[in-house]
Amino acid sequence: MDKLVIRGGNKLYGSVTIGGAKNAVVALLPATLLARDVVVLENVPAIRDVKIMLGIMSQLGAQVKRLDKTSFRIDTTHVTVQEVPNDVAKRLRASYYLIGAMVGTFGKADVSLPGGCDFGVRPINLHLKGFKSLGVNVDIDNGMVRADAKEGMTGSSIYMDEVSVGATINVMLAAVKAKGLTIIENAAREPHIVDLANFLNRMGANVRGAGTDVIKIRGVEELHGCTYSVIPDQIEAGTYMVAAAAAGGDVTIKNVTPKHLESITAKLLECGVEIEEGDDEVRVRRFGELKPCNVKTKPHPGFPTDMQPQMVTLLALAKGTSIVHESVWESRFRYVDQLIRLGAKINVGGGKTAVIQGVDGFKGACVNATDLRAGAAMIIAGLVAEGETEIEDIYHIERGYEDVVEKFRAIGADIQRRYYPDEDDLELRA
Ligand code: UD1
Repeated sequence: MDKLVIRGGNKLYGSVTIGGAKNAVVALLPATLLARDVVVLENVPAIRDVKIMLGIMSQLGAQVKRLDKTSFRIDTTHVTVQEVPNDVAKRLRASYYLIGAMVGTFGKADVSLPGGCDFGVRPINLHLKGFKSLGVNVDIDNGMVRADAKEGMTGSSIYMDEVSVGATINVMLAAVKAKGLTIIENAAREPHIVDLANFLNRMGANVRGAGTDVIKIRGVEELHGCTYSVIPDQIEAGTYMVAAAAAGGDVTIKNVTPKHLESITAKLLECGVEIEEGDDEVRVRRFGELKPCNVKTKPHPGFPTDMQPQMVTLLALAKGTSIVHESVWESRFRYVDQLIRLGAKINVGGGKTAVIQGVDGFKGACVNATDLRAGAAMIIAGLVAEGETEIEDIYHIERGYEDVVEKFRAIGADIQRRYYPDEDDLELRA
């Protein structure tokens, strides 16, 4: 078993370069199926979710070739497989984008229900509602989503009862090939929705309005290959911003889109952190005390739920009481027990609201990365904690953060990845 081991107390100085957005690339990769041609994707982050998705694409018959560290050539011309079994799909949540992409490409998809981070119930009713409105027959049979549009799809008007990133993306993937006009109302507005729309348009689709809550898609007969660069990762950038704010120091975060970071910047300013925005970088400085503030997670452009654990960690070190309300996921405070091990004072009421009483500092301990962003929060806590913090289950972190040890070390953190033999290893050696 590998752990991250952090000796806290160092302030952070220097610069860190952000990679491509995980939540964009996991939609763009399935979308390459629609081209039935060669796509070159650039600024692809070196994270486990990408490896898994590229593995799935290869199993489906796509020819995947790495061109350099962040660029891949994906040829989907000869893909014919229309089934994604459970052992593959359970490895990442975004495997459900293959439903929309395959229905758009072949008029048929059999995809097992997805895995991913556990924040409580994660329904896909809105994805299914969207497909059905386009004329797709959808059944769930033995854990498989079976979607069939052999008669073709017809554009229609779809109202999303909840703002859902996944459902918006999945319907976009199918609707680019439906006959006529599809209108998605109450659509999600996250930066990765806009990125997907730009990518689809580059492949010849006709998608308008992404980034607003009404997306209009006029179906086309065929798409084609292109070269496209993935947007920078909003959440990776936000995580380094909060890390710099928590540990103190002066860090420039490069290759970002400052506009995507506005809700995070606004809260950090409230906490007394200094932030300077450049064209494609933000500089984060913190030398004084941290002030408390209240945060409510919301769909974009609100404060992202994927930054909630990192922000709670920061506020646990502020002078005073903060309240954080989670309004997107029903149980996203499970990691709080881990912060409490380090000395945080946090009370979670009704599963959705955390009351955080700031403390002067944390003390190192052994903690778990209970999910991807919770793992990022543990790193931030470890950077501040006195003594040594060990983080277990780091595979969650590697799903979404590229070169996390190298990037934090480059800005002065004392962090390393250490191998600990587990029971099985010891038996093998005996
Ligand atoms: C995506 C992100 C995830 C982020 C989340 C919210 C990816 C791969 N993952 O997840 O990191 O935390 O957006 O920003 O991009 N809902 C329904 N029915 C549905 C679908 C969703 O009721 O069919 C509800 C969910 O229970 C949740 C809310 O809508 O309360 C938002 O979920 P959604 O935006 O769909 O999240 P994901 O796309 O799964």
